[in-house]
Amino acid sequence: MIERVLAIETSCDDTSVAIVDRTGWVHSVVAASQDLDHEVYGGIVPEIAARNHSIALIPLIEEAFKKANMNWSDVQGIAVTNRPGLIGALIVGLVTAKSLSQAKHLPFLGVNHLEGHLLAPFLRDDKYAPPEDFGYPYVGLAISGGHTSLYQIKGLGDYRILGATKDDAAGECFDKFAKMAGLGFPGGVRVDQMAKAGNPQAFEFPRSMIHDDTFDMSFSGLKSSGQRMLEQLGPELVQERLPDLCASFQEAIVDVLIAKLDRAAKVFRSKRVILTGGVSANSRLRQRAQEWADKKGYTLVIPPLRYCTDNAAMIGYVGALRMARGEVSALDLGPSPQALASDFK
Ligand code: KG4
Ligand code: ZN
Repeated sequence: MIERVLAIETSCDDTSVAIVDRTGWVHSVVAASQDLDHEVYGGIVPEIAARNHSIALIPLIEEAFKKANMNWSDVQGIAVTNRPGLIGALIVGLVTAKSLSQAKHLPFLGVNHLEGHLLAPFLRDDKYAPPEDFGYPYVGLAISGGHTSLYQIKGLGDYRILGATKDDAAGECFDKFAKMAGLGFPGGVRVDQMAKAGNPQAFEFPRSMIHDDTFDMSFSGLKSSGQRMLEQLGPELVQERLPDLCASFQEAIVDVLIAKLDRAAKVFRSKRVILTGGVSANSRLRQRAQEWADKKGYTLVIPPLRYCTDNAAMIGYVGALRMARGEVSALDLGPSPQALASDFK
């Protein structure tokens, strides 16, 4: 029986390893950030990400065992992200998982990264646990650098996609605006910090598709509008008005996300709602979402930052649950840049 797995996450630019129980209990989660290596290029360079994963991964596996005070005899399987993500980055984790599976005579399972984000609220450790009344079904908004999608989550493997961005992801939009405003990379967190001193009503930015009756979103118009605004103001005024610009730009994204969440919770009569993915680290979004949930009487769960941003613990949880019900991957499993059609309904 699978009780506990070693989990590997290398889908993008963070290398992460965790040891997780089927109950969601995280014994250890460790990560190596590559932000400094990509910052000079103003974005993630896939080849650099893959190379760094190959350097960091094995030492991180050793560290994860050490931190958990465990060894190979304490795990019954290996979970690894094999989709979606950067192919070169995924290959490093996948090939390592396959090799370790052969060497240690343990089964391995390829996991969908987005499923990890959607089930992250169930993780627990000595500082975090989901609220007592939290469970399936719930509505989930996954917001990251590559994805902005709304789901109805009914149970393990039972996910219905309600809507998604038609163009840019919300995180991508934050990152591009930060880059254009000279804030550097990674941009989301810098816009968030800068916005704290700004007025969210100072500048007008579009909120595309906010009132249409779908769960879809669009952020490319906002991105272009941000670019135009920065060009019109010119470097000196941009510098001077940066807090107001960031606060106003951020508010446009937050307004759209909350409106779509509100619509989904209403249509699907869901009292339980989650935010997950890197952008759910955004402090304004967290505040506004909490105010909204309190007003409506909804239970809102936003996992702590360490489980919201890319991490191996969420992959381990999904892997442990699926392996416990008999799922195993074959050695010819490949990486995929996309989720599989069968991953969602
Ligand atoms: O889930 P994640 O760690 O990686 C992906 O799978 O993409 O999300 C990364 C994204 C980046 O676009 C980053 O700028 C954004 O999350 N992000 C934020 C904040 N922290 C991270 N965006 C807005 N405010 C933040 N505080
Ligand atoms: Zn992610």
